[in-house]
Amino acid sequence: MQSAAGIVVILGTGGTIAGTAADPARHVGYQAAQLGVEALIAAVPPLQGQALETETVARMDSSDMDHATWALLAAASARHLARPEVQGIVITHGTDTLEETAYFLHRVLAPDKPLVLTAAMRPATALSADGPQNLCDAVAVARAPGACGVLAVLAGRVLAGSELRKVHGYRVQAFSTGDAGPLGVLEDGRLRTFRDWPRARAHPAGAHLPAPERWPVVDVVTSHAGATGRTIDGLVATGVQGIVVAGTGNGSVHAGLMAAAHRAQAAGVVVRRSSRCQLGGVVEAAEPAPGVLPSSGELTAVQARIELMLDLMGPPP
Ligand code: SIN
Repeated sequence: MQSAAGIVVILGTGGTIAGTAADPARHVGYQAAQLGVEALIAAVPPLQGQALETETVARMDSSDMDHATWALLAAASARHLARPEVQGIVITHGTDTLEETAYFLHRVLAPDKPLVLTAAMRPATALSADGPQNLCDAVAVARAPGACGVLAVLAGRVLAGSELRKVHGYRVQAFSTGDAGPLGVLEDGRLRTFRDWPRARAHPAGAHLPAPERWPVVDVVTSHAGATGRTIDGLVATGVQGIVVAGTGNGSVHAGLMAAAHRAQAAGVVVRRSSRCQLGGVVEAAEPAPGVLPSSGELTAVQARIELMLDLMGPPP
């Protein structure tokens, strides 16, 4: 149940949104994760006087995101979501692994309140920083009546966390949700929605995550011209439990890699197939050919890695 004007909790994890550069004209070569959440809020006049709480979960460049931080973030989010006076949560995050954190939280929490991730492509010191507007918009979405699920608010658009993909390394419009399109847009602080809010069931493993050091080891291997089985054979030798092959096109896998994938399966490793294409997933044939690797459907390779890791955690105790 959401209260009329409840608290929005802002959880900070770092990223470019909290980054600083010596030269305001620089958008690269800056230091990510330099500012605390309070400093980010202070740069947004419309947020002053609002019922906000802050908590710093991490101060990191999200390219270094790890399972221990995900576990902390999931626990902090669950704790605040359970408070009746909390209307929603905003997480400030780096853009580089935003889609992975969004998918992870979507699968382990599937919240019935809004959990809104936001980020920035330009550091807080940039002449035209995108972080302050994104944070302002994210809080507006966290307060929107009826909003729920894991969402991302970036560059004036509201995107479903489960559909998010970073598709550009530099531009402010860096994210896409492919064919699904945005859930809505923010125009001068007003939300206009096009689709229903995402409602989902959490993965059963989400309720009882083991300690992060016991999470199954799942790696992603990319199929490409000249691929051999070396990477997969090497991973199997190190005791990997799951492998996601990011295949070419509609999830096709180089013959050299495929032979190693079959060896891995014979050794007890769970192997799934996705696509390395930027958009779209794997569309299954009506009658799959013998020996074809099971596909992860519309999931990206990094989403499929999370899904397989949760599957391999087994049923909760
Ligand atoms: C990061 O992901 O933490 C750095 C890059 C960014 O936020 O855009």
